[in-house]
Amino acid sequence: MKAVILILLIPLIQSCSKDPEVRGYTVFNEMAFSPAYEAFSENSITSDGKTMMLPVKGSIARGKMPYPYKNSEDDAMKAEEELQDPFEETDVTLARGEYLYKGFCLSCHGENGDGDGPVISKNFPRPPSLKSRSVRNYNKARIFHVITVGFGDMPEHGTQLTVRDRWYLSQYVKQIQQQ
Ligand code: HEC
Repeated sequence: MKAVILILLIPLIQSCSKDPEVRGYTVFNEMAFSPAYEAFSENSITSDGKTMMLPVKGSIARGKMPYPYKNSEDDAMKAEEELQDPFEETDVTLARGEYLYKGFCLSCHGENGDGDGPVISKNFPRPPSLKSRSVRNYNKARIFHVITVGFGDMPEHGTQLTVRDRWYLSQYVKQIQQQ
């Protein structure tokens, strides 16, 4: 038994090194020092001969699920009916919504959503008040939709804001409307 333990201990002891940067004794050299290819070099193993391979067709990057609704009244109504805010509204989500509103919406819609942001004085078309009757009637999903694909003169924000942040913004817009 002692002999077995001793044999098992030999590689363990040999693999130790005082310098943490230096590997001790390696048994499988190719595993410890694997030959690396440069990302843009040719490669004889991959199917297209490139080291850095393209994503598989149809791959979806994390957090980039395609948005199925277009910028049209029909699709806006569908989104309003079919989408649901998956995030519970809390002080934290509303605070994040407020922070994003100041960064992404205030310039046009104004501090309180009255459509009097600083760009209006630079001849940009004046947006409607977010407290107008028609926008007040929108649910969170419709506001999420407008933020995602834009509306008329308003640019889309789907590429700049994550899904989560767009929902938080919708929550915050609904909160402004209650003021
Ligand atoms: C560059 C200026 C600009 C920015 C930035 C902007 N909007 Fe708008 N928004 C507009 C304009 C202009 C309209 C009216 C568009 C029209 O009627 O053609 C509008 C309309 C809207 C509407 C009403 C849409 C409807 O169906 O009547 C909502 C809701 C809205 N914006 C929310 C937001 C939110 C939330 C943000 C921040 C993520 C934002 N907007 C950022 C200019 C802007």
